[in-house]
Amino acid sequence: MLTYPMFIDGKSREPASGAWFPSHDPYRGTPWARIANGNSSDVDEAVEAAHRALTSGPWPELTASGRGALLCRLGDAVAANARRLAEIEVRDNGKLFTEMHGQLSYLPQWFHYYGGLADKVEGTVPPLDKKGYFAFTRKEPVGVVGIITPWNSPLLLLAWKLAPALAAGCTVVVKPSEFTSASTLELARVLDDAGLPAGVFNVVTGFGEDVGAPLVTHPLVRKISFTGSDSTGRNIGATAGRELKRVSLELGGKSPNVVFADADLEAAVNGVVSGIFAATGQTCIAGSRLLVQESVHDEVVDQVVKLAASARMGDPMAETTQVGPITTRAQYTKVLDYLAVAREEGAHAVLGGHPAERPECGDGWFVEPTVFTGVDNSMRIAQEEVFGPVLAVIPFRDEDHAVAIANDVRFGLGAGVWTSDIGRAFRMAERIQSGTVWVNTYRAVSYLTPFGGVKDSGIGRENGRHAIDAYLEDKTVWINTGAPAGNPFVLR
Ligand code: NAI
Ligand code: MG
Repeated sequence: MLTYPMFIDGKSREPASGAWFPSHDPYRGTPWARIANGNSSDVDEAVEAAHRALTSGPWPELTASGRGALLCRLGDAVAANARRLAEIEVRDNGKLFTEMHGQLSYLPQWFHYYGGLADKVEGTVPPLDKKGYFAFTRKEPVGVVGIITPWNSPLLLLAWKLAPALAAGCTVVVKPSEFTSASTLELARVLDDAGLPAGVFNVVTGFGEDVGAPLVTHPLVRKISFTGSDSTGRNIGATAGRELKRVSLELGGKSPNVVFADADLEAAVNGVVSGIFAATGQTCIAGSRLLVQESVHDEVVDQVVKLAASARMGDPMAETTQVGPITTRAQYTKVLDYLAVAREEGAHAVLGGHPAERPECGDGWFVEPTVFTGVDNSMRIAQEEVFGPVLAVIPFRDEDHAVAIANDVRFGLGAGVWTSDIGRAFRMAERIQSGTVWVNTYRAVSYLTPFGGVKDSGIGRENGRHAIDAYLEDKTVWINTGAPAGNPFVLR
């Protein structure tokens, strides 16, 4: 068993409580690491350290260009450690090494991109409607940022928040998921070794109520950036509203993959299968509803089932494995509960529908790739986020019908459209209510393109140049260039 203390003010820290909790390896179903069980006094220490680093010492002394250069060095350090960090993530969340190594190898781009952006943040000189004044605006860091992350892609989703926050000049306290804290603590060491000043990046581990909640309410935390479930996001948003804190929320989805009869069906089938079975369906953008035009329904379902049935399950570290375990025991139970719900609602499992009992799955938390047909969009299996390898197939007649079904859900994160008709592609992209629409592809993301949700899928956008604004405040400075202030009772 490895032991992971917290990371506060540039140093490893034992928890104030003296208590530790286990993190599990989902492939073996056994504990592999001890994680510090933090509480509100650890949060206080970390936030105070972040606040000191924000206002004194080397960090505020850096110019924007200096911060940018440092971010680039941090990116290089992550690149040099990509394989090791990926292996830790696989151990902790059971996702495929091929996927996690891909993510970790891509992650330095966030540091490089926002490093490049750091000294391109400019204020303005607004033209004025008054004589005898000059005004300018400056962009200032919002302050200490509280970052709360989930277990599915711990470091990638952290980087989406951390890189723009640091580029803006903020300091951060991160509360990683209690299921996957190890890689964030390893990252803290990597960033520290690469020269990030003490107190700029702090990690407090522990549970949501014990660490997440006090982080959200701490008076010195000015902004919360959260990725996770919509129920926790709603809770955090309500608290942030009461405390008047800035907040960004990246929440769940029930994203449709819409396949028209005129599509390249082989490509569509590949996209549908990767949309729901990659990452074992444990991604916010999982294409968990397959909307398929009636005339090709049977053909597409047959092909999806055939391809999904061929997926090799087992050790997530093996390059040949295509579908890994479910990350947590609670999530495993939740997925199995949804399989029962879908059956009770009258859906028909044409593939899977039960835990995987393959010898290569051992004692891990594996669920067979599952495809339900006979699904009506009003069923829970079509409306609620399962976050597992479970696809709900819903037939549609025509474009209008497809749009109506696609939008008849409270989420709006992603959507796929498969068609060879260019006009239809544009129409669908316009009419579907979601933060991202992919045409004849699925799951593409980049540091260059805004990502986020509409409706219950969240508030705010990450990635792209405007994402840095979430960590900045505008300040307006007025200068009297004319007569000294005169009559105090007249507004000028
Ligand atoms: P969660 O939303 O409860 O956890 C995410 C993070 O929030 C964790 O770090 C957790 O400790 C923290 N947290 C929990 N309660 C908090 C509170 N009161 N105040 C502040 N922070 C708090 O998600 P959980 O329980 O791990 O997974 C449950 C479901 O969430 C999944 O079944 C899935 O449907 C969804 N999910 C969605 C993700 C996404 O990327 N959109 C990622 C992970 C889970
Ligand atoms: Mg774990």
